[in-house]
Amino acid sequence: MLTVEGLHAGYGELPVLRDVSFSVAAGRIVGVLGANGAGKTTLMAALSGLIAPTAGRVMLDGKPVQGLPAETIVGLGMSHVPQGRRIFPGLTVRENLMVARTKATSRAPGGFPAVLDTIHDLFPRLAERKDQLGWSLSGGEQQMLAVARALVARPKVILLDEPSLGIAPLLVEAMFDAIQEIRRREGITVLVVEQNAEQALRISDEVHIMELGRIVASGDPVAIGSDPEIVRAYLGT
Ligand SMILES: Nc1ncnc2c1ncn2[C@@H]1O[C@H](COP(=O)(O)OP(=O)(O)OP(=O)(O)O)[C@@H](O)[C@H]1O
Ligand SMILES: [Mg+2]
Repeated sequence: MLTVEGLHAGYGELPVLRDVSFSVAAGRIVGVLGANGAGKTTLMAALSGLIAPTAGRVMLDGKPVQGLPAETIVGLGMSHVPQGRRIFPGLTVRENLMVARTKATSRAPGGFPAVLDTIHDLFPRLAERKDQLGWSLSGGEQQMLAVARALVARPKVILLDEPSLGIAPLLVEAMFDAIQEIRRREGITVLVVEQNAEQALRISDEVHIMELGRIVASGDPVAIGSDPEIVRAYLGT
């Protein structure tokens, strides 16, 4: 579903990603772990078209998408939930979802109302808060809204950048359960960046570890999580 080959990207003269290659099969949840500054957010931005890669290829469901504008990539089926949520604070929950509608939303059976029903089913809290303004939501509710907003475009692949960041510990597990539900119900392929290694290892089928803009280890979450060298070097204790 997603193939990344020899990807390089950075900011102006600053190279960040160096020769990143991996692939994600349809319907899988793949985790990306790594310390602060490793390049995880830069990877997500280079995939979704928020920054243009300087070299390499990104194939989404068989089509090259590297260098395309972000809105085109959304239309081709990849939605990005950015780190820090970036919901619209002055819009209501419902309006935040309305602004994310695309052609794929109207093509869905039942259109936007049906898509909204699926979202409310997944995050009942958003149905209760539908007329509340974005700024007044709790951190966890804002994160749910950011994920929900990405689902409005009916993606094949969803990129999640730190979905547990800044949300109450009690909600962290629920957020990861919701991510598994999104894959189970909608068959959506998930690439998830996380600092919470325990949760990422719990829900992922496969994980990659980044350091200094490269992938330095990859594998089965059980193998990665029980490798003392990897845990000590990259995942903390
Ligand atoms: N907009 C930017 N302009 C210039 N440099 C940037 C920009 N954003 C990130 N960087 C640099 O790119 C490198 C990778 O940052 P990135 O945000 O991708 O890391 P990360 O792995 O997502 O870290 P974190 O876990 O803190 O979110 C860092 O050295 C960072 O300072
Ligand atoms: Mg980041």
